[in-house]
Amino acid sequence: MNRLGMIVVIVSGLLSPLWAIAAQDQASAEPVYSDMYSIARGGRLYDNWFEEKGIERPKVAHPAYPPAGKFRGNNGTDWRCKECHGWDYLGVEGAYGKGKHLTGFRGIRDAYRTTPKKLASILSDRFHGYGPGTLNTTDVYDLAAFVARGTFPMDHYIDRETNRGMGSVRRGREYYQTACVGCHGIDGKGEATPPLGRLAKEDPWEVMHKILNGQPGAEMPALRAFSIQPAADIVTYLQQEMPHR
Ligand code: HEC
Ligand code: HEC
Repeated sequence: MNRLGMIVVIVSGLLSPLWAIAAQDQASAEPVYSDMYSIARGGRLYDNWFEEKGIERPKVAHPAYPPAGKFRGNNGTDWRCKECHGWDYLGVEGAYGKGKHLTGFRGIRDAYRTTPKKLASILSDRFHGYGPGTLNTTDVYDLAAFVARGTFPMDHYIDRETNRGMGSVRRGREYYQTACVGCHGIDGKGEATPPLGRLAKEDPWEVMHKILNGQPGAEMPALRAFSIQPAADIVTYLQQEMPHR
């Protein structure tokens, strides 16, 4: 190393405590919310916004929910975004294209260009009907982050024909037994939920969504900042190795 190099090394070494102090100062400032925070929170609002916000459920039926639909006026269920747009974000073109959740409505996958402003005008129109006391500006911001950047093609991870996860059981077992076991138990039959093996079999899209975004209003982590593959591996493991009842 030449002499200039030596000097640079020594001086920066002497200054490093100052950098540490500056970093500490920054850490005590206001929290910086990441995009992942918004996307995951938006995902939980999409799942169940009144549960996530801890506010009262809507008492009247959603104005646009089909009169003959199974969940009309059912404890606010018909106000959950997922009830019309689906856990696979495909609406009538996905898993909600048949069965008791059928509404015939489209998904949100085509709305990836949405912005908080556009979404605010969609949600407050007469059709969607989210008026005062439901979603505030921050909620709409997070929902827009989710709609624009949080959905993904579920069919890459779950086989549409068989409903089976296409991930790795071995990796899913490792993820589950480190990230989930503490709350849900080694057999997925903790007190808080129905057996996870059964949920993953009945609705793998729902379990994918909850692993990535967390459970509304509950102390459950969101794996959103990791890639999507671990969630698919966990679902595959739950389906293939966990008790279904
Ligand atoms: C009762 C059923 C219902 C509920 C609940 C519902 N939507 Fe919708 N949504 C629809 C229908 C139907 C459309 C299509 C309207 C149209 O084509 O004009 C739509 C359209 C949209 C679109 C535009 C899609 C596109 O491709 O242009 C977005 C984004 C959206 N909804 C987001 C949400 C969010 C976020 C929530 C929850 C806060 C929600 N919706 C709740 C029925 C619903
Ligand atoms: C800190 C504890 C905690 C951890 C860790 C945790 N969960 Fe949860 N989970 C919960 C709680 C609490 C609930 C909600 C129970 C309720 O809503 O009454 C829940 C709900 C769920 C549900 C929805 C159940 C239903 O009734 O719809 C699924 C699926 C789930 N968890 C899967 C997982 C998986 C997979 C992992 C690991 C990636 C995980 N959880 C990690 C606490 C946790």
